[in-house]
Amino acid sequence: DTGIFTYDPGFATTASCKSAITFIDGDEGILLYRGYPIEQLAEHSTYLEVCYLLMYGELPNKEQGESFNHIISQHTMVHENIRDFIDGFRYDAHPMAMLVGTVGAMSSFYHDSLDINNPEHREISAQRLIAKMPTIASYCYKHHRGMPFMYPDNNLGYVENFTRMMFAVPAEDFTLNPVAVKAIELIMILHADHEQNASTSTVRLSGSSGANPFASIASGVACLWGPAHGGANEAVINMLDRILYSGETIEQVIARAKDKNDPFRLMGFGHRVYKNFDPRARLIQKMCYDLLKELGGDQPLFELAMELERATLEDEYFIERKLYPNVDFYSGIILRALDIPMNMFTVMFAMSRTVGWISHWMEMHEDPEFRIGRPRQVYTGAAQRDYPSGR
Ligand code: SDX
Repeated sequence: DTGIFTYDPGFATTASCKSAITFIDGDEGILLYRGYPIEQLAEHSTYLEVCYLLMYGELPNKEQGESFNHIISQHTMVHENIRDFIDGFRYDAHPMAMLVGTVGAMSSFYHDSLDINNPEHREISAQRLIAKMPTIASYCYKHHRGMPFMYPDNNLGYVENFTRMMFAVPAEDFTLNPVAVKAIELIMILHADHEQNASTSTVRLSGSSGANPFASIASGVACLWGPAHGGANEAVINMLDRILYSGETIEQVIARAKDKNDPFRLMGFGHRVYKNFDPRARLIQKMCYDLLKELGGDQPLFELAMELERATLEDEYFIERKLYPNVDFYSGIILRALDIPMNMFTVMFAMSRTVGWISHWMEMHEDPEFRIGRPRQVYTGAAQRDYPSGR
């Protein structure tokens, strides 16, 4: 502390901005989207209705909802050159690597005619991003699998369209799995926004320079990829697989998680803000239990997950530090149970969080006090000194 700025790793208590979009009370485990409790939205709403709420601040009436859904459905296609762009990636590129690149490249397809100082143009960008993310996400997956891309079918709902583009092939009829659609809709609603998390703060900071929305969202995708953030759901399953094949006992795993000399952390546990149960985790935990009962599937892995959940909830170290299973612990398990490929978990998180990112980007541009972000530092380097003469 130099008396100018207090150093706070991770900016945990430094308010970086004002926002009216999402409210979190980490101690009480409260999460509100524009004032509505996440529990009620998860039970009664749809992902597109939540998109409208986050973007415009109010739930849509019938006409507004129908018009918004129609606009989204009319922009699900992407420029054919985007398919070629994705085809340029290595055959085994991680879908997140393709998503970062492709969303950034959208600047060259959809931005030139848009003026970000024009509120209507900002709204159009937001709608295009929400509409096209499922198409791009599924294209990245299909390229990774060397399978034919499926064009959107605008007669389907948003989540149905995505699951069809992901799993359908031209050679066969495709039957939607209603259990999968319901689970993905819930996961999308729960991941839509989360206040100033790392990736949303990244979008705000990059957008504050006047960068176009596609480039700003691409920076959010890049940040989300990290295993400490959005990459956690994929890291949860990798961790469970590794434990299964290593034969480690739960006791040995928990001992490693507590060992300060061991960099190992329990993926899917803990949260920077929630020092109570993540309200999203409670909602998705129930869906997870129901699904595992219904789908069966990879039992040893799921049994290990439930054992780990039980052990941590009873362990002093975790209780003291309020380290509970977070939303990523259960979403990773659900997505695995639905046979969603693991390298698509974070892509789906990004697809869902796009509306949160772009709502914050829009809110920032509408703020009359809007100016470029400039985090400060506490300097810990050498004091001023002269260059040695005669060197
Ligand atoms: C998301 O910000 C958001 O909102 C993010 C997110 C969103 O919707 O955008 O909610 C999504 O990113 C959820 C988090 C997903 N990440 C993981 O599941 C990765 C595993 N979790 C950890 O890496 C960690 O818990 C963090 C990154 C989530 C939080 O890290 P912090 O803030 O450093 O944790 P902390 O300071 O509260 O830790 C307190 C103590 C420390 O021990 P002590 O120094 O007090 O002895 O708990 C320990 C930590 O070492 N600890 C863990 C642990 N997480 C914290 N020990 C073992 N395993 C863990 N997972």
